[in-house]
Amino acid sequence: MRILVIGSGGREHALCWKISQSPHCDELFCAPGNGGIGRVAECVSIKPDDIEKLGDFAEEKGIDLTIVGPERPLIAGVCDHFRSRGLTIFGPNASAARLEGSKAFTNELTERAGVPGKAFKVFDDAEAARKYIRRQGAPIVVKADGEAAGKGVVVADHIDDALDAVDRCMVDREFGASGDRVVVEEFLEGQECSIKVFCDGETIVPMVPSQDYKRIYDDDEGPNTGGMGCYSPVPVVTQEVFDRVISEIVRPTVEQMTSEGTPYSGVLYAGVILTESGPRLLEYNCRFGDPETQVVLPRLESDLVELLLATAEERLSEVEAVWRDERAVCVICASGGYPGKYATGCDITGLKEARAGEDAIIFHAGTERMGRRYFTNGGRVLGVTALGATFSQARDRAYRAVGHIDFEDMYFRTDIGERAVQAE
Ligand code: GLY
Repeated sequence: MRILVIGSGGREHALCWKISQSPHCDELFCAPGNGGIGRVAECVSIKPDDIEKLGDFAEEKGIDLTIVGPERPLIAGVCDHFRSRGLTIFGPNASAARLEGSKAFTNELTERAGVPGKAFKVFDDAEAARKYIRRQGAPIVVKADGEAAGKGVVVADHIDDALDAVDRCMVDREFGASGDRVVVEEFLEGQECSIKVFCDGETIVPMVPSQDYKRIYDDDEGPNTGGMGCYSPVPVVTQEVFDRVISEIVRPTVEQMTSEGTPYSGVLYAGVILTESGPRLLEYNCRFGDPETQVVLPRLESDLVELLLATAEERLSEVEAVWRDERAVCVICASGGYPGKYATGCDITGLKEARAGEDAIIFHAGTERMGRRYFTNGGRVLGVTALGATFSQARDRAYRAVGHIDFEDMYFRTDIGERAVQAE
């Protein structure tokens, strides 16, 4: 088969890495890819949001299956476009990708489905939102309704921060049209985890759970990032919790989507919080997680291409996913200054030693390859994943591998996996 992956981050490298191991994969392309992806796939210089051009490329090359990494093209309708041209693609149509593209849509749909979530109210008017926030008090959560590259959510400890979030969305229009409507939500307390499933509109095949670290500094301090590391499985997600998430949250959502005429196909990623009263839905994403994919796919024993194709062809009930009973820890190496300003073009050294010496898997995110050398080209530069029989073994391997790698101002958290090690 000829396969195309859309995207350029660590998630897409993990996808390409796993897909390239499948006997079904004859040729693999990635648009646009990155320095490391170029080792397992042919990188094609087309941007993920250039939907028309991606369709032309898939037609010209006779691509049998396309997999979409990031949310933006999904929300913009890349799957609708491919399907209208008779091309096989893995991912939800735009109407189903609203589960990530609109917080109001998701809250309203899951409420109709009886999914345990949080109290919420949707506002098109800033003054009405402010009044409601003053009445409710803090802590409270303010979200831009639309997709805002992970930056549109504010968990406010003080009313002033919540009011400021409303202004940034609706008055300053920091997120453009995505913030013209805001959703104000009840604040929930508990540990967060993410549970993703393959779904073809009817059948659900769950993946192993994972937990990511969103803040830049150790002990979850500092600003939010795209994710500074993660691990899988998640000790607090017992089999009972896992089954409840699937039966009380994911399945009713999938059934509701189908009954409302927008069946969901692709990866459904449930961001869940484990409260005293049980698991509750925080949000959905319509894609693989990043960096979570960098710990989930290394634990997948089964052929990923078979799962992706069966999902896209609505015959997921014919395949199963078998997972390795190992622990996986991924540490992100970032450019100093991230998530703020950072330098690019820094020479990366020690990759070979990290891979070979410690049995680690190095997933590239913001890298560029020139000849045999790699240079930094983004905020999150590399994801270093290691497996182990225990969390402490996986964590030690990952950090030993990170110890071989260097580039100017390299930054990483030193506490990734610590929570899981303590719980072991
Ligand atoms: N790690 C969070 C996400 O993929 O959105």
